Amino acid sequence: MAIRPRRARASPVIDDLDISLKANEFVSIIGPSGCGKSTLFNMIAGLQVPDSGMISLDDKSIVGQTGAVTYMMQRDFLLPWRTVLENVTLGPELAGKPLAAARADARKLLRRFGLEGFENVYPSSLSGGMRQRAALLRTILCDRPIILLDEPFGALDALTRASMHEWLLGIQREFQCAMILITHDPDEAVYLSDRIYVSTPRPMQIAGIVDIDLPAERHRDVTLSPRFAEHKREVLSLLHALSSPPEAVH
Ligand SMILES: Nc1ncnc2c1ncn2[C@@H]1O[C@H](COP(=O)(O)OP(=O)(O)OP(=O)(O)O)[C@@H](O)[C@H]1O
Ligand SMILES: [Mg+2]
Repeated sequence: MAIRPRRARASPVIDDLDISLKANEFVSIIGPSGCGKSTLFNMIAGLQVPDSGMISLDDKSIVGQTGAVTYMMQRDFLLPWRTVLENVTLGPELAGKPLAAARADARKLLRRFGLEGFENVYPSSLSGGMRQRAALLRTILCDRPIILLDEPFGALDALTRASMHEWLLGIQREFQCAMILITHDPDEAVYLSDRIYVSTPRPMQIAGIVDIDLPAERHRDVTLSPRFAEHKREVLSLLHALSSPPEAVH
Protein backbone atom coordinates (compact mmCIF):
# COMPACT_ATOMS: atom_id res chain seq x y z
CA MET A 1 0.00 0.00 0.00
CA ALA A 2 1.26 3.52 -0.74
CA ILE A 3 -0.14 6.94 0.06
CA ARG A 4 1.12 10.11 -1.55
CA PRO A 5 -1.20 13.09 -1.21
CA ARG A 6 0.69 16.09 -2.65
CA ARG A 7 0.48 19.83 -2.09
CA ALA A 8 -3.17 20.90 -2.36
CA ARG A 9 -4.87 24.31 -2.29
CA ALA A 10 -4.72 26.77 0.61
CA SER A 11 -4.28 25.44 4.17
CA PRO A 12 -4.08 21.70 3.48
CA VAL A 13 -4.69 19.23 6.31
CA ILE A 14 -2.16 16.78 4.84
CA ASP A 15 0.78 17.80 2.67
CA ASP A 16 3.55 15.82 0.92
CA LEU A 17 2.96 12.70 2.96
CA ASP A 18 4.38 9.38 1.80
CA ILE A 19 3.76 6.20 3.77
CA SER A 20 3.78 2.56 2.72
CA LEU A 21 2.85 -0.79 4.20
CA LYS A 22 3.78 -4.36 3.25
CA ALA A 23 1.66 -7.47 3.82
CA ASN A 24 1.46 -8.45 7.51
CA GLU A 25 3.36 -5.37 8.69
CA PHE A 26 2.38 -3.38 11.78
CA VAL A 27 2.93 0.34 11.33
CA SER A 28 2.08 3.15 13.74
CA ILE A 29 1.50 6.85 13.20
CA ILE A 30 2.15 9.11 16.15
CA GLY A 31 1.69 12.87 16.04
CA PRO A 32 0.20 15.93 17.72
CA SER A 33 -3.54 16.20 18.30
CA GLY A 34 -5.37 17.76 15.36
CA CYS A 35 -2.53 17.18 12.87
CA GLY A 36 -4.73 15.20 10.47
CA LYS A 37 -4.29 11.54 11.46
CA SER A 38 -7.99 10.62 11.45
CA THR A 39 -8.40 12.59 8.22
CA LEU A 40 -5.64 10.44 6.70
CA PHE A 41 -7.49 7.27 7.78
CA ASN A 42 -10.74 8.62 6.35
CA MET A 43 -8.90 9.03 3.05
CA ILE A 44 -7.37 5.54 3.10
CA ALA A 45 -10.82 4.13 3.93
CA GLY A 46 -12.34 6.05 0.99
CA LEU A 47 -14.60 8.23 3.17
CA GLN A 48 -12.79 11.44 2.15
CA VAL A 49 -11.10 12.19 -1.15
CA PRO A 50 -7.74 14.03 -1.22
CA ASP A 51 -7.46 17.12 -3.47
CA SER A 52 -4.42 15.51 -5.09
CA GLY A 53 -2.06 12.58 -4.70
CA MET A 54 -2.64 8.86 -4.74
CA ILE A 55 -3.63 6.06 -2.38
CA SER A 56 -3.03 2.62 -3.79
CA LEU A 57 -3.38 -1.02 -2.78
CA ASP A 58 -1.35 -3.53 -4.82
CA ASP A 59 -0.62 -0.74 -7.36
CA LYS A 60 -4.34 -0.06 -7.93
CA SER A 61 -5.88 3.24 -6.85
CA ILE A 62 -8.33 3.03 -3.94
CA VAL A 63 -9.02 6.79 -3.82
CA GLY A 64 -12.66 7.32 -2.82
CA GLN A 65 -13.23 3.56 -2.66
CA THR A 66 -14.77 2.13 0.50
CA GLY A 67 -14.36 -1.52 1.44
CA ALA A 68 -10.74 -2.01 0.31
CA VAL A 69 -9.52 -1.82 3.91
CA THR A 70 -11.37 -2.05 7.22
CA TYR A 71 -11.39 0.75 9.72
CA MET A 72 -11.92 0.85 13.47
CA MET A 73 -12.73 4.48 14.09
CA GLN A 74 -11.63 6.64 17.02
CA ARG A 75 -14.98 5.95 18.76
CA ASP A 76 -16.08 2.31 18.84
CA PHE A 77 -19.45 3.05 17.16
CA LEU A 78 -21.12 -0.06 18.54
CA LEU A 79 -24.82 0.31 17.80
CA PRO A 80 -26.61 0.45 21.19
CA TRP A 81 -29.82 -1.13 19.89
CA ARG A 82 -28.01 -4.21 18.55
CA THR A 83 -26.66 -7.12 20.60
CA VAL A 84 -22.94 -7.93 20.56
CA LEU A 85 -23.50 -10.66 17.95
CA GLU A 86 -25.60 -8.34 15.77
CA ASN A 87 -22.94 -5.64 16.08
CA VAL A 88 -19.97 -7.81 15.17
CA THR A 89 -21.65 -9.25 12.06
CA LEU A 90 -22.54 -5.81 10.69
CA GLY A 91 -19.75 -5.88 8.04
CA PRO A 92 -20.77 -9.15 6.35
CA GLU A 93 -24.44 -8.11 6.70
CA LEU A 94 -23.86 -4.79 4.92
CA ALA A 95 -21.83 -6.63 2.26
CA GLY A 96 -24.93 -8.77 1.59
CA LYS A 97 -23.33 -12.01 2.82
CA PRO A 98 -25.54 -14.76 4.31
CA LEU A 99 -26.27 -13.81 7.90
CA ALA A 100 -26.35 -17.36 9.30
CA ALA A 101 -22.81 -18.05 8.03
CA ALA A 102 -21.54 -14.69 9.38
CA ARG A 103 -23.05 -15.41 12.81
CA ALA A 104 -21.53 -18.91 12.83
CA ASP A 105 -18.09 -17.37 12.00
CA ALA A 106 -18.53 -14.79 14.76
CA ARG A 107 -19.59 -17.39 17.35
CA LYS A 108 -16.36 -19.32 16.68
CA LEU A 109 -14.34 -16.20 17.54
CA LEU A 110 -16.20 -14.96 20.62
CA ARG A 111 -13.97 -16.87 23.06
CA ARG A 112 -10.77 -15.60 21.35
CA PHE A 113 -12.10 -12.06 21.81
CA GLY A 114 -13.10 -12.59 25.45
CA LEU A 115 -16.79 -12.19 24.64
CA GLU A 116 -18.07 -15.72 25.12
CA GLY A 117 -21.43 -15.66 26.93
CA PHE A 118 -21.97 -12.00 26.00
CA GLU A 119 -23.21 -12.48 22.44
CA ASN A 120 -26.81 -11.62 23.32
CA VAL A 121 -26.17 -8.60 25.56
CA TYR A 122 -26.23 -4.96 24.46
CA PRO A 123 -23.04 -2.84 24.32
CA SER A 124 -24.08 -0.80 27.37
CA SER A 125 -23.48 -3.91 29.53
CA LEU A 126 -19.85 -4.31 28.38
CA SER A 127 -16.68 -3.01 30.04
CA GLY A 128 -14.43 -0.60 28.09
CA GLY A 129 -12.01 -3.39 27.11
CA MET A 130 -14.87 -5.64 25.99
CA ARG A 131 -16.34 -2.87 23.84
CA GLN A 132 -12.95 -2.40 22.16
CA ARG A 133 -12.64 -6.14 21.54
CA ALA A 134 -16.18 -6.26 20.13
CA ALA A 135 -15.36 -3.34 17.81
CA LEU A 136 -12.18 -5.11 16.75
CA LEU A 137 -14.00 -8.41 16.15
CA ARG A 138 -16.44 -6.52 13.94
CA THR A 139 -13.47 -5.07 12.04
CA ILE A 140 -11.69 -8.45 11.70
CA LEU A 141 -14.88 -10.11 10.42
CA CYS A 142 -14.83 -7.72 7.45
CA ASP A 143 -11.93 -9.90 6.28
CA ARG A 144 -9.62 -7.41 4.57
CA PRO A 145 -5.81 -7.48 4.25
CA ILE A 146 -5.38 -4.09 5.95
CA ILE A 147 -6.89 -2.89 9.22
CA LEU A 148 -6.82 0.76 10.29
CA LEU A 149 -6.97 1.32 14.06
CA ASP A 150 -7.56 4.90 15.22
CA GLU A 151 -6.49 5.11 18.88
CA PRO A 152 -8.28 1.86 19.75
CA PHE A 153 -7.01 1.75 23.34
CA GLY A 154 -7.06 5.46 24.16
CA ALA A 155 -9.82 5.18 26.75
CA LEU A 156 -8.46 2.12 28.60
CA ASP A 157 -6.47 1.99 31.85
CA ALA A 158 -2.75 1.11 31.61
CA LEU A 159 -3.13 -2.51 32.76
CA THR A 160 -6.00 -3.29 30.38
CA ARG A 161 -4.08 -1.59 27.56
CA ALA A 162 -1.00 -3.72 28.18
CA SER A 163 -3.00 -6.95 28.04
CA MET A 164 -4.77 -5.74 24.87
CA HIS A 165 -1.37 -5.14 23.21
CA GLU A 166 -0.21 -8.74 23.56
CA TRP A 167 -3.63 -9.97 22.54
CA LEU A 168 -3.67 -7.69 19.44
CA LEU A 169 -0.31 -8.99 18.20
CA GLY A 170 -1.64 -12.56 18.62
CA ILE A 171 -4.74 -11.64 16.60
CA GLN A 172 -2.61 -10.05 13.87
CA ARG A 173 -0.47 -13.20 13.59
CA GLU A 174 -3.54 -15.43 13.55
CA PHE A 175 -5.46 -13.46 10.94
CA GLN A 176 -2.40 -12.59 8.81
CA CYS A 177 -3.28 -8.96 8.14
CA ALA A 178 -1.39 -5.68 8.05
CA MET A 179 -2.33 -3.03 10.60
CA ILE A 180 -1.88 0.74 10.76
CA LEU A 181 -2.34 2.16 14.24
CA ILE A 182 -2.82 5.77 15.24
CA THR A 183 -1.67 6.39 18.79
CA HIS A 184 -0.44 9.12 21.11
CA ASP A 185 1.47 6.62 23.24
CA PRO A 186 5.19 6.04 22.39
CA ASP A 187 5.32 2.84 24.52
CA GLU A 188 2.35 1.42 22.65
CA ALA A 189 3.85 2.37 19.28
CA VAL A 190 7.27 0.83 20.03
CA TYR A 191 5.82 -2.35 21.53
CA LEU A 192 3.44 -3.06 18.64
CA SER A 193 5.18 -1.77 15.54
CA ASP A 194 7.61 -2.81 12.86
CA ARG A 195 7.90 0.88 11.91
CA ILE A 196 6.71 4.18 13.37
CA TYR A 197 5.94 7.33 11.39
CA VAL A 198 6.18 10.46 13.52
CA SER A 199 4.10 13.24 12.01
CA THR A 200 4.28 17.03 12.20
CA PRO A 201 1.44 19.34 13.34
CA ARG A 202 -1.02 20.35 10.60
CA PRO A 203 -0.33 20.28 7.68
CA MET A 204 0.56 16.68 8.39
CA GLN A 205 3.92 15.57 7.04
CA ILE A 206 6.33 12.85 8.14
CA ALA A 207 8.92 14.28 10.56
CA GLY A 208 10.79 11.01 10.95
CA ILE A 209 10.60 7.24 10.63
CA VAL A 210 11.72 4.87 13.39
CA ASP A 211 12.38 1.28 12.28
CA ILE A 212 11.85 -1.01 15.25
CA ASP A 213 14.52 -3.63 15.75
CA LEU A 214 12.87 -5.93 18.31
CA PRO A 215 12.01 -9.65 18.03
CA ALA A 216 8.95 -10.35 15.85
CA GLU A 217 7.44 -12.46 18.67
CA ARG A 218 7.09 -9.86 21.44
CA HIS A 219 6.49 -10.40 25.09
CA ARG A 220 6.04 -7.83 27.83
CA ASP A 221 9.62 -8.20 29.11
CA VAL A 222 10.90 -6.63 25.86
CA THR A 223 9.72 -3.28 27.30
CA LEU A 224 12.57 -3.53 29.85
CA SER A 225 15.29 -3.98 27.20
CA PRO A 226 17.82 -1.21 26.36
CA ARG A 227 16.77 -1.34 22.69
CA PHE A 228 13.12 -0.65 23.63
CA ALA A 229 14.27 2.38 25.65
CA GLU A 230 16.42 3.56 22.73
CA HIS A 231 13.50 3.36 20.26
CA LYS A 232 11.25 5.19 22.71
CA ARG A 233 13.89 7.94 23.04
CA GLU A 234 14.06 8.25 19.22
CA VAL A 235 10.28 8.71 19.02
CA LEU A 236 10.19 11.18 21.92
CA SER A 237 13.05 13.27 20.57
CA LEU A 238 11.28 13.54 17.18
CA LEU A 239 8.08 14.61 18.98
CA HIS A 240 9.91 17.08 21.23
CA ALA A 241 11.66 18.64 18.24
CA LEU A 242 8.20 19.41 16.83
CA SER A 243 6.73 21.09 19.87
CA SER A 244 7.52 24.80 19.94
CA PRO A 245 8.84 26.17 23.24
CA PRO A 246 6.24 27.96 25.42
CA GLU A 247 6.13 31.73 24.95
CA ALA A 248 8.18 33.71 27.46
CA VAL A 249 6.17 35.26 30.30
CA HIS A 250 7.07 38.90 31.04
N1 LIG B 1 -11.79 18.25 4.20
C1 LIG B 1 -11.30 19.04 5.14
N2 LIG B 1 -11.06 20.35 4.89
C2 LIG B 1 -10.57 21.18 5.83
N3 LIG B 1 -10.26 20.77 7.08
C3 LIG B 1 -10.46 19.50 7.40
C4 LIG B 1 -10.97 18.55 6.46
N4 LIG B 1 -11.02 17.33 7.07
C5 LIG B 1 -10.55 17.52 8.33
N5 LIG B 1 -10.22 18.80 8.52
C6 LIG B 1 -9.63 19.38 9.74
O1 LIG B 1 -8.34 18.82 9.91
C7 LIG B 1 -7.94 18.86 11.26
C8 LIG B 1 -7.35 17.55 11.64
O2 LIG B 1 -8.34 16.69 12.16
P1 LIG B 1 -8.11 15.17 12.52
O3 LIG B 1 -9.35 14.70 13.20
O4 LIG B 1 -7.69 14.43 11.30
O5 LIG B 1 -6.88 15.25 13.54
P2 LIG B 1 -6.21 14.10 14.42
O6 LIG B 1 -4.75 14.14 14.13
O7 LIG B 1 -6.92 12.81 14.20
O8 LIG B 1 -6.46 14.63 15.90
P3 LIG B 1 -6.62 13.80 17.27
O9 LIG B 1 -5.25 13.29 17.59
O10 LIG B 1 -7.08 14.84 18.23
O11 LIG B 1 -7.62 12.71 17.04
C9 LIG B 1 -9.18 19.28 12.04
O12 LIG B 1 -9.03 20.62 12.38
C10 LIG B 1 -10.33 19.05 11.02
O13 LIG B 1 -11.42 19.90 11.27
MG1 LIG C 1 -8.05 11.62 15.41
